[in-house]
Amino acid sequence: MMVCEYKPGLEGIPAAQSSISYVDGQKGILEYRGIRIEELAEKSTFLETAYLLIWGELPSKEELEAFEHEVRYHRRIKYRIRDMMKCFPESGHPMDALQASAAALGLFYSLRDLHNPAYIRDSVVRLIATIPTMVAAFQLMRKGNDPVRPRDDLDYSANFLYMLNEQEPDPLAARIFDICLILHVEHTMNASTFSARVTASTLTDPYAVVASAVGTLGGPLHGGANEEVIQMLENIGSVDNVRPYIENCLERKAKIMGFGHRVYKVKDPRATILQKLAEQLFEKFGHDKFYDIAQEMERVVEEKLASKGIYPNVDFYSGLVYRKMGIPTDLFTPIFAIARVAGWLAHWKEQLAENRIFRPTQIYNGRHEIPYTPIEQR
Ligand code: SDX
Repeated sequence: MMVCEYKPGLEGIPAAQSSISYVDGQKGILEYRGIRIEELAEKSTFLETAYLLIWGELPSKEELEAFEHEVRYHRRIKYRIRDMMKCFPESGHPMDALQASAAALGLFYSLRDLHNPAYIRDSVVRLIATIPTMVAAFQLMRKGNDPVRPRDDLDYSANFLYMLNEQEPDPLAARIFDICLILHVEHTMNASTFSARVTASTLTDPYAVVASAVGTLGGPLHGGANEEVIQMLENIGSVDNVRPYIENCLERKAKIMGFGHRVYKVKDPRATILQKLAEQLFEKFGHDKFYDIAQEMERVVEEKLASKGIYPNVDFYSGLVYRKMGIPTDLFTPIFAIARVAGWLAHWKEQLAENRIFRPTQIYNGRHEIPYTPIEQR
């Protein structure tokens, strides 16, 4: 057997062959099924992009309408799932609530028929349709309110914002939110997608696949960074404090949230688009002083860390967009999950098509032949 060099974090090690998305980290290029992210952000919708990723081609008009229709009519969650969620502590993090709720779907849809395309489609539709309902339901229930029923006359993103705020969203805000979902839906072999593929490779059900990926996404080094960015901007408080804050982080070797990426060595193209979306919102709904702090951070980090290829990533500007929409900070990562579920499902489907269980090796660096010491002699 070939002996390979150990790479912490599996840096540079291919874990799968995939045709779903592509990143050129030197040029700042991201493509979904070969189409540039900038073009999809401008012209597509989240559901159309989800279809593209999962089934490999842009849908025809009829295919898209059928998919939208199916998702629309699967948005309601079972009252037992709602009742289960009511018992979650309101102080709990919404990502934990989402992970538990996604896993619970497996209790209600326990049939597993992984070779049947109709089963794959049903599971895809159910997960994409119900994850936003579960996020919105937890948000209302933790405030002591009943969840709001989904509205069949609203499209995907407008309906989510409606369920969250109990009022119809501004059309610009709804469109910008939908673009945010497009930007977050897929990103090659990131940690949560890897987690999804490992779980999928055991041939378990798709709810377990999504639940494991949600758990992985929540950490502050991954999707959880968007929440930490806003907390960081709040702590910094003013433009004048930016430079000392960054110098202090660098002295302590602390990571600056929303910056750096394993693959991108230039500014993440998603961050560039999100920054423009934030500006559009500020123009219509008023400026946010946190944006001035963020821009100064980008300047100072570039000055100090450009040589290491550290630039804003997807999590840096997304929080400013959601904050302007009045979305609570601890929902930012669940919103990332609402989008990414379609990417995880594309990888689930691709993994099943050529499955082999993930079972890497390790380099053992422990001891051998140690005698057992009786407890009274330890
Ligand atoms: C996402 O993988 C994906 O595709 C993920 C994602 C997706 O769409 O799925 O794009 C979403 O997870 C975005 C990343 C969100 N996380 C953060 O914003 C947290 C802050 N960033 C970092 O912790 C870090 O940059 C990572 C986790 C994103 C990447 O980590 P790596 O590749 O393991 O890099 P590293 O920690 O080994 O750092 C390499 C060097 C070090 O310097 P040296 O010791 O070599 O001198 O770069 C420095 C680090 O200190 N560095 C940073 C930094 N990130 C890296 N220094 C200061 N601040 C940072 N944020």
